[in-house]
Amino acid sequence: MAAAGEHPEVVARIAELRDVIRHHSRLYYESDEPEIADAEFDDLMRELRELEERYPALRSADSPTEKIGGAPTTTFAAVTHLAPMLSLDNAFSRDELDAWGARIVKRAGEGVGFVAEPKMDGLAISLVYEAGRLVRAATRGDGVTGEDVTANVRTVQGVPSRVGGGSSPVLLEVRGEVYMPVASFTELNRRQADAGEHLFANPRNAAAGSLRQKDSRITASRDLSLFCYQLGVVEGGPHLGTHIEILQWLRDLGFPVNPHIDRHDDLDSVSRFCESMESKRHDLGYEIDGVVVKVDDLAVRAALGATSRAPRWAIAYKFPPEEKTTRLLDIRVSIGRTGRATPFAVLEPVFVGGSTVEMATLHNQDEVARRGVRVGDTVIVRKAGDVIPEVVGPVLSKRPKRSTPWTFPADCPVCGSALVRQEGEANHRCLNADCPARQLQRIAHFAGRNAMDIEGLGEERVALLVNAGLLHDAGDLYSLTVEDLVPLGGWRRSRRRVS
Ligand code: IVH
Repeated sequence: MAAAGEHPEVVARIAELRDVIRHHSRLYYESDEPEIADAEFDDLMRELRELEERYPALRSADSPTEKIGGAPTTTFAAVTHLAPMLSLDNAFSRDELDAWGARIVKRAGEGVGFVAEPKMDGLAISLVYEAGRLVRAATRGDGVTGEDVTANVRTVQGVPSRVGGGSSPVLLEVRGEVYMPVASFTELNRRQADAGEHLFANPRNAAAGSLRQKDSRITASRDLSLFCYQLGVVEGGPHLGTHIEILQWLRDLGFPVNPHIDRHDDLDSVSRFCESMESKRHDLGYEIDGVVVKVDDLAVRAALGATSRAPRWAIAYKFPPEEKTTRLLDIRVSIGRTGRATPFAVLEPVFVGGSTVEMATLHNQDEVARRGVRVGDTVIVRKAGDVIPEVVGPVLSKRPKRSTPWTFPADCPVCGSALVRQEGEANHRCLNADCPARQLQRIAHFAGRNAMDIEGLGEERVALLVNAGLLHDAGDLYSLTVEDLVPLGGWRRSRRRVS
């Protein structure tokens, strides 16, 4: 613990972090238009939380670290939740997950069982049933007061309007997540683009934007689904002692419950589940951003209790981030073997999805236009399918004042001949067969894995040899001598790129 008075820079940083976090919270929860990637938001929150832990004198009840979600808007009627809808604490690593587990065992003793569930990346919803009939659906809002979205939620696939037949509890509150499948999100954005409407940044924003429509016919036209994962207030239900029993009961009543939910006897088993979910996260058809781990036994839960923000008996293990923002420094065009001109983004290097990204293909003229990015923009970068870096789009609020839309260069950046886009074609091409870039790519292709597979002769080394005047075509490879190669200094990496 440290005294804050001696550190004015800490006081200033905390104030700054709180302002920035409030700003981004508003965008995320109230207008469904985030400006930064989730992982960056988490980083800001974590920095603030760490500073407040180190300098407890600077804690404050109105800090974003004490708050849940966003304030309800005025578009929908306000609903006071029957019981607060709490948030979850996060674990960003196995160590943090283990530390949480150790705290649980310390308080509740050995032998605590856990239930691990995919952490759905949608929006939390509370469904209230009276005598088996759906009477109200509300968003989480600030945790105490949410928005009444009943009419819209009735249009969501999987939301039962009646449950339990004659044996339904007098009062039943079920909580879950409304989400949009990835394929439906892609299709929706395609339709939005065709209609000249704005595009959604990700499936969660599409789900939130679709659910918070004034006209429920619009919500009905969007493919939304539901998974339930928690009970709220119940009056007149059966006695249930564990979370796994609750989930089974919900299934029996007709609520959709995620099939990838397991009970685990210890945290090693939970960890293996987290790993397995992470490896299949892109095959599920919907987005998850982690695993929620919960204590199974309800009596143990009650003993553990909750803080004002989150229960102690659950934690969200977050997968490492796959989306970041960075600056788009330039858009350049590379020329391939067949003359195809491919625009690509030159990015301020950014670590995303496990590696540093400094370039990303933009495919062709139409794709640049579709993404709407300009040189100088702050852009969101992610790994498509975990591997290929992709520029998702710009953060418009950070666009420099005097930026202009990018236009495809008229001439080949390497040989200067015209770049031509023929009718019906998506790509521009350099038609000069002697273009040095095409020459280089032809030789690299010849040496590459799909042709002669010459070990150690990749594009960079071909460029080195072409630039040294030693290679003009693939045939020249066969007359290279040791004397040719020695002056090149032991295969130093080429600094020049023909692109
Ligand atoms: S349980 C008090 N289970 O994550 C615990 N939440 O970051 C209530 N979420 O507000 C939540 N998947 O919107 C729970 N399987 C899951 C979940 C889940 C996604 C969301 C939920 C919650 C947020 C907290």
